[in-house]
Amino acid sequence: MYSTILTEVQDHIITVTINRPEKLNALNKLVIEELGQAIETIYADDSIKAAILTGAGPKSFVAGADISEFLELDGEGGQALAQKGQDLVFSKIENCPKPIIAAVNGFALGGGCELAMACHFRLASDNAKFGQPEVNLGLVPGYGGTQRLTQLIGKGKAMELMMTGAMINASEAKSLGLVNEVFPAEELLPKTIQLLKTITSKAPIAIAKVIELTNLAAIGHPDGLRKEVAAFGLLFDTRDAKEGARAFLDKRAPNFTGH
Ligand code: COA
Repeated sequence: MYSTILTEVQDHIITVTINRPEKLNALNKLVIEELGQAIETIYADDSIKAAILTGAGPKSFVAGADISEFLELDGEGGQALAQKGQDLVFSKIENCPKPIIAAVNGFALGGGCELAMACHFRLASDNAKFGQPEVNLGLVPGYGGTQRLTQLIGKGKAMELMMTGAMINASEAKSLGLVNEVFPAEELLPKTIQLLKTITSKAPIAIAKVIELTNLAAIGHPDGLRKEVAAFGLLFDTRDAKEGARAFLDKRAPNFTGH
């Protein structure tokens, strides 16, 4: 049904693979549209509890926006491209109530680094490389890179990376907090799935609230603490919170249903 991405669901976890390996999985207009549709499905399909974003082939996660579409763009077109991508894909991923994790299996440059950063967190293979090389093209990041890179690694290092366009390797990315863990390439997907199975065994509404509240903290939202209090209270009205406490007291594993 898609021509530029692959999707596979196993154990309620969907793996979305950007599938243009001959172009290092660069994001052209069709990839953005199809990713947008896949994300709609993640939101709407109750049987999907979490998602993994990755790239096809051994070399690249996503090597950026498709530069072959840039020559035809003017100011209005460039703005529309960035806005559409942010609306359909990047902000939707960030605000998704279900966990979406990037499994970064190679180059994550420009829009690829931005796609990984829009995810709730990132795991990487040891050959992963990250960078925001837009200045090499006379551009700036347009899919949220200036904001999310600064949130994740701090202003000084973000400025340096965006001004130089330099690539960093997986271990540097880990030391900066851009990725959580680095694995040998063949272990990346199994480890990502293992971690998501742990997360999807928890109460889904609580996980959704963790995402919402942590996103508020990341942008320094002034109502973060108030919203935490409200969420804490709201969760006591869920069946899952009752089940969690009851299971603890009964010394058994909880059986969460998402209600
Ligand atoms: N847009 C369009 N095509 C891209 C691309 C992109 N962002 N990144 C890679 N490709 C294409 C190449 O043009 C090449 O296509 P071809 O075989 O038809 O010539 C193919 O993918 C393989 O890339 P190649 O450059 O030959 O691989 P490499 O191993 O020598 O270099 C990179 C890898 C990632 C260093 C290099 O491809 C690169 O710098 N890409 C652009 C990164 C970038 O600036 N991204 C930000 C865009 S805003």
